Amino acid sequence: SQNWVIMVTAQTPTNIAVIKYWGKRDETLILPINDSISVTLDPSHLCTTTTVAVSPTFQQDRMWLNGKEIALSGGRFQSCLREIRKRACDVEDKKKGIKITKEDWGKLHLHIASYNNFPTAAGLASSAAGFACLAYALGKLMNVKEDESQLSVIARQGSGSACRSLFGGFVKWIMGKEEDGSDSLAVQLADEKHWDDLVIIIAVVSSRQKETSSTSGMRESVETSLLLHHRAKEIVPKRILQMEEAIKNRDFASFSRLTCTDSNQFHAVCLDTCPPIFYMNDTSHRIISIIEKWHRSEESPQVAYTFDAGPNAVLIARNRQTAALLIQRLLYYFPPTLGDLDSYIIGDKSIAKD
Ligand code: PMV
Repeated sequence: SQNWVIMVTAQTPTNIAVIKYWGKRDETLILPINDSISVTLDPSHLCTTTTVAVSPTFQQDRMWLNGKEIALSGGRFQSCLREIRKRACDVEDKKKGIKITKEDWGKLHLHIASYNNFPTAAGLASSAAGFACLAYALGKLMNVKEDESQLSVIARQGSGSACRSLFGGFVKWIMGKEEDGSDSLAVQLADEKHWDDLVIIIAVVSSRQKETSSTSGMRESVETSLLLHHRAKEIVPKRILQMEEAIKNRDFASFSRLTCTDSNQFHAVCLDTCPPIFYMNDTSHRIISIIEKWHRSEESPQVAYTFDAGPNAVLIARNRQTAALLIQRLLYYFPPTLGDLDSYIIGDKSIAKD
């Protein structure tokens, strides 16, 4: 019969860069101008759940995001779908009497439903979890044999940072040299168990959508910021090595210094862009001051901060005790009654798949 449906559901957490990616050398393939390193969050807090389905009764590819149908015409979805279809293999379900050959995948249509359990496009890297989950779920559905790093090449073409969400723990996105992007991929530096004392707390300063998308922000920085090019060439390569070392040795002092400095440099690049881009706001700046003051009052730092393309603070505490102190301080400086923060999201870091 032609009435069957096959479905796969996958769940993927978002990731937060501790050495930032900012700037593309190729906008279509999404190839970066520097390596980056991130930590993947716990899937219970910030993740995307995606169900992909195939059936001969489907008339066209369709996609729903948080229950609302969205146009699949965007180049990025098409790139991901095309790349996955290229790698599809035979699928057979003998019990149901279904056989899909490699060639069939080119003709069959897909339905995709995706949910974020956190605000979309508020600088919480929603596209990172989204495209990683899409590549992973489609890979399973179509019996793609490639490993996570190879899938990361596909997720990257949806959203750069997405390539890092295919692994848990600490992940490096290697910028690569090839023009076709085949070596611009993610590798795992350390799994989620390696440094499981760390606790990540996100202070949601605003859950509103950001004003400048990362795509146009990056383009403007690449075109106008000299600091960006200095950073990519002279600073990030050394920082990547130092960060790898800090992660390997679980050296929190070094990890915190590198993370905070790199976040501040990324936002300095945004200011150096013409016209300047402001992702952080007064509340973000106050959070930085509070943590910096705390750093100076202790022998070594207890918390690291980092901000992506939005005002929300991602705070990484050395351990549970420090996380408890951090929450106490946040509640003291930003009492819920004043409404400076929209909410807190608390989690540790790790990954779950399937
Ligand atoms: O992948 P995009 O287009 O969402 O860009 C992400 C850019 C930053 O979050 C600011 C940095 C990063 O490395 O994730």
